[in-house]
Amino acid sequence: MPNNTNMYYPDELVEEVLAANDIVDVVSSYVQLKRSGANYFGLCPFHNEKSPSFSVSKSKQIFHCFGCGTGGNVLTFLMKYENQTFQEALRQLSDRAGIALPEINYSAEAKKREEKKQQLFAVNKEAATYYYHLLRSDKGRTGLSYLQKRGLTDDMMKQFGLGYASGSSNDLIRHLKEKGFSDDLLIEAGLASFDEKQGLHDKFWNRVMFPIQDVSNRVIGFGGRVMGDAKPKYLNSPETPIFDKSRNLYGLNIAKRSRKNHFLLCEGYMDVIAMHMAGFTEAVASLGTSFTEGQASLLKRYVSGVILAYDSDQAGVTAALRNLEILRKAGVACKILDMTPYKDPDEFLQAEGKEAFEERIRQAENAFLFKIRMKEKEFNMEDPEERTAFYREMARNLCSFTDAVERENYAKALSSRYYIKEEQLLSMVASYDRAGGENIPARPVRQGTIRKQVQEEKWKRSVRHSEGLLLTALSVKPDWFARIEPFLSADDFEEGLPKEVAEAFLKALKEHTYEEEKFLSSLISMFDTAEEQEAVSALFQTEFENPQAEEEQQKKAFLDVACAVKRFSVERITEKAKEDPNLLLKLVEEKKALDTLSRLR
Ligand code: UTP
Ligand code: MN
Repeated sequence: MPNNTNMYYPDELVEEVLAANDIVDVVSSYVQLKRSGANYFGLCPFHNEKSPSFSVSKSKQIFHCFGCGTGGNVLTFLMKYENQTFQEALRQLSDRAGIALPEINYSAEAKKREEKKQQLFAVNKEAATYYYHLLRSDKGRTGLSYLQKRGLTDDMMKQFGLGYASGSSNDLIRHLKEKGFSDDLLIEAGLASFDEKQGLHDKFWNRVMFPIQDVSNRVIGFGGRVMGDAKPKYLNSPETPIFDKSRNLYGLNIAKRSRKNHFLLCEGYMDVIAMHMAGFTEAVASLGTSFTEGQASLLKRYVSGVILAYDSDQAGVTAALRNLEILRKAGVACKILDMTPYKDPDEFLQAEGKEAFEERIRQAENAFLFKIRMKEKEFNMEDPEERTAFYREMARNLCSFTDAVERENYAKALSSRYYIKEEQLLSMVASYDRAGGENIPARPVRQGTIRKQVQEEKWKRSVRHSEGLLLTALSVKPDWFARIEPFLSADDFEEGLPKEVAEAFLKALKEHTYEEEKFLSSLISMFDTAEEQEAVSALFQTEFENPQAEEEQQKKAFLDVACAVKRFSVERITEKAKEDPNLLLKLVEEKKALDTLSRLR
């Protein structure tokens, strides 16, 4: 979604702040930059590297990393580096330049949203207090003895604000209504539900309650656990305007003060509490949903590394494999704890105690070696063909290290573990690199469904790629737009961000307001999350220019790309027309446009 800066600050003000903060100056205070030609280069702060692939363009006022693909303008840089919001980054830059920002002038709608959030915080706080006292009352005896049986001390229960929901006679609802909260708010907060049979009733029944707090200790939701084997084991609050499960972590409000340079990341609420109880106050957990990029960047504000303390079962291993990639992409170092023979950190600590746990932390396995060790299990090493396939898999994975020294060190480690000569492994890596690196599968994909997924992925990637090429080409040669204008519009771009970008860009071309130097940086500030800003920047970083080629050849390549974009668009409409016959007429027209466009070449 494009941001609502207009609602807060006028575009001109954002432009003024951008103009007053040269990206090279700002980035230089974080990253050592060296001039090389028209650009500046340095070590990318967003991924681990030893040779510089992070570039900053003074003329265009943007940055781009050729290693990890991240990029954007000076606001994006701060938002990513300092984990700031758009508003925070803008404020830092305006302070830096001595420009006074007006107090935020909330629109009526924004004000309403803000009020709603405050109400949700208030009702959650009141509910947490209620559950807390209930646990310590007569009615809460079953809950209390359950938690005691699980080994929790009173101190721990207090620290995490644990509570109890009896649910009998809808006592929470009654209490909250007495305090003046409305039915609608209770439903929106996920504390109550409504149906024909029961009317308005408590959502949490007969469960021990784990309030979920944000970094500032505000209660944003709940997890409630049954005390027996009923299903579901945990019932969680739904997402609300204050409860974004992909951007919060359980225990972070305490772990952030642990003064460790790593966090212990686990799966369960009980695991977090058990680890804290044993003195590992750096433990956090995701919130009953898979770990996300948003959570990785949240972690990164506080620590440079993470130790995964996931369940030792297959689900835990799968989650670990998935999440170490997310952490790698976010530039967070990652190691893996082995909990076997126990199921999870909670059980491990109950059985072995904290010294043994500390020992496991010392022995935590390097993420890459863990990944390869898990891969090995998929291959029958007795079979020469399978063994070769496994070696290929290792080579393919080694491609992810662009740094030669790092690559060799890993090759060395793997060669001694898996009995293959280092030179052989490295030469396999080299041939993979030439063929396209880690994206080439080591053995042919057999299952139809996977193949379909891969094809869809590929299709999406080629669409993105063509659209990026077209936008990039036009940003360098805006005059060429006139040739394709009758046949191609923003509607031909992929729904969502690409289309929004194309709309703004093509409009500027049409109205001749496009200025190459300023455009991209301004366009980027139309979006208010770092992810979107990066995606916008990526659209314009596609390699297109081939300065050696003749103008005529370049033009032909440009028309080819325009046709590709149009063709993808026609394919999309064809798919949609299968469901919606109203589109058939449009389809005919669009096909005609594609025809004419291809004849221009
Ligand atoms: P686990 O099933 O591993 O539970 O789920 P646990 O944390 O070890 O809890 P205990 O020890 O059995 O009490 C891990 C996490 O997955 C989410 C919860 O966040 C839980 O802490 N989960 C699990 C749910 O949200 N719903 C469920 O039904 C189960
Ligand atoms: Mn458990």
